[in-house]
Amino acid sequence: MKKIILINGSPRKNGNTAELLKSAAKGAQDAGAEVELVNLYALNFKGCTSCFYCKLKSKEHGICAMKDDLSPVLEKIKSADAVIFGTPIYFMNFSAGMIACIERLFFSNYIYSNEISTVFPKKLPSAFFYTMNMTANHWEQFGMERLTGMYETFTERILGVKPKTLYAFDTVQFKDYSKYESSIFDPEHKIAYRKENWATQLDDAYNIGKDLMRNS
Ligand SMILES: Cc1cc2nc3c(=O)[nH]c(=O)nc-3n(C[C@H](O)[C@H](O)[C@H](O)COP(=O)(O)O)c2cc1C
Repeated sequence: MKKIILINGSPRKNGNTAELLKSAAKGAQDAGAEVELVNLYALNFKGCTSCFYCKLKSKEHGICAMKDDLSPVLEKIKSADAVIFGTPIYFMNFSAGMIACIERLFFSNYIYSNEISTVFPKKLPSAFFYTMNMTANHWEQFGMERLTGMYETFTERILGVKPKTLYAFDTVQFKDYSKYESSIFDPEHKIAYRKENWATQLDDAYNIGKDLMRNS
């Protein structure tokens, strides 16, 4: 049976990112796959500590020497048939948890060699889901493509396949905006935008999950 791992880089287990990942999981399941959703913020782990164990000539490359809650996740990604990384945008970047996870996964499988740059054992299809307050116009205005493009390029280099992408703009952050200082947002607009777009986004996520499993 094929397997897909879905990595939730939001601390919210039922937030926007999680919802999209769960929809992708359903798509993958409908394509006959086994699914596993990992909530990074439920785990105790750190980003790369630059120990260089993974670069030692005397050791097997592709192994992260750090031992913590992320270690089994890194192994599971290696044996999976596809992976989806879902991250909220925090201060114009990925969440700290997602960055830490990617550092560990990518750096341990990347080598400073003139001949090859990846020791990842196979070509692994993947996708990135991005959720954020920003609108599509802000995304362009702030040149976000430069940031995500770099992560996507590294993904292609390490995992061997160009990742698919899904963008969820203008997400609803609070159930009740009146309870929070949030005057920069127009809650009515937020609700209306979600009403108009969220079902399509869930469908897009579902289809990515399904396609990744069909084509892996
Ligand atoms: C610490 C923090 C920083 C954030 N920074 C940004 C940002 O720079 N740009 C943006 O568009 N949204 C930002 N947001 C909003 C989230 O990206 C957005 O609400 C996202 O959809 C949350 O995903 P979740 O529901 O899965 O937790 C930030 C939220 C938090 C908590």
